[in-house]
Amino acid sequence: MDGIIEQYEKYVMPTYGRQPAAFVRGQGCYLYDEEGNAYLDFVAGLSINNLGHCHPAVVAAVQEQVAELIHTCNLYYTRPGGELARLLSESSLGGKVFFANSGAGANECAIKLARKYGRDLAGEGKHRIITLENGFHGRTMATLTATAQPAKQEPFKPLLPGFTYVAPNDLVGLAAAMDDSVCAIMLEPVQGEGGVHPLNSEFLQVARELAGRHQALLVFDEVQTGMGRTGKLYAYQHSGVKPDVITLAKSLAGALPIGACVAAPPYSDVLGPGTHATTFGGGPVPCAAGIAVMRELTAPGFLESVDARGEYMRSMLRKLQDRGLVTGVRGLGLMNAVDLPEPRAAEVAGQALAAKILLNNTSANTLRFLPPLIVEERMIDQVVEFLETALSV
Ligand SMILES: Cc1ncc(COP(=O)(O)O)c(C=O)c1O
Repeated sequence: MDGIIEQYEKYVMPTYGRQPAAFVRGQGCYLYDEEGNAYLDFVAGLSINNLGHCHPAVVAAVQEQVAELIHTCNLYYTRPGGELARLLSESSLGGKVFFANSGAGANECAIKLARKYGRDLAGEGKHRIITLENGFHGRTMATLTATAQPAKQEPFKPLLPGFTYVAPNDLVGLAAAMDDSVCAIMLEPVQGEGGVHPLNSEFLQVARELAGRHQALLVFDEVQTGMGRTGKLYAYQHSGVKPDVITLAKSLAGALPIGACVAAPPYSDVLGPGTHATTFGGGPVPCAAGIAVMRELTAPGFLESVDARGEYMRSMLRKLQDRGLVTGVRGLGLMNAVDLPEPRAAEVAGQALAAKILLNNTSANTLRFLPPLIVEERMIDQVVEFLETALSV
């Protein structure tokens, strides 16, 4: 029989630039290959394994639920769906939740909600959606259209009509793009896939003000920043700017597929019966896992420790900057990145793999660090020591 990698090469579409590593087991901050080698994971499934691999509370919740009830479809009610929706609503905007299966699915819901909200309010003309250059919202056609990165969009044109792109933190550009035909401004509070760029709070405040003035929804894509990644449960809580809609996914169900679109009260009934659906959405197993995740994230001191470890990581990375090994250090909580003086980020990620450390590069110059939120200082030290050696040559 072919090995794991050979099977992928033969039978799986080549849409991902995978690193040459196959894993069979995960525990805490480590993944293990077939030979039992341990890899320190600073990718965490791209911010999915926020509680680490196979967290006991998630495993127990899934095992219990999977033995009870796996799926019913959304023609019926189940306890975990309602309970997870309550936890998300009460911890964020109030209002109601639509469950999807992915980040793109959550954003599709937000886009459709915004379009219908605009149409209900003022007719078809109120349909424009403003998103930010360098942003990332997913790979379906609507979310790709929202993803203002020409290289990702080009092969799939024509895209959806009615999207306008503005540069991040460009107050003048945002004001110029706004009028009453806009139904939503949609943005990531920290641009993740674009290289971990936090938006400044003045820009978020102006977006809030302009959205209000033009009766448009302010939608924050918290797919990557949500669920404690930045040291608060949701990144919008750093800025004091409250959006009308947030979208979540990634680590929400402890690494099972889920997405969620949470809309604040006046907007949470815009999508009525028959307007939106997905067969798997809000299934009892991922929702049971999500309830366990919420319990862990909201345990006393958990988010404070994320903040402290993030601060520690940046302080260590700044030492590399002082020595000229990296040119920029930025981030929030445990969502951090460094820029390299040379376009060597992919090469350094490859060297890291050889050193049994998993790192991710978002561009030729930028390395992004998304460790599990349970990461320990000694693990951060190990990664910084590796970088010091790799970047010194
Ligand atoms: C901010 C943001 N939005 C949306 C998505 C898309 O999520 P998914 O890959 O689950 O569709 C991602 C994925 O990286 C993301 O980072």
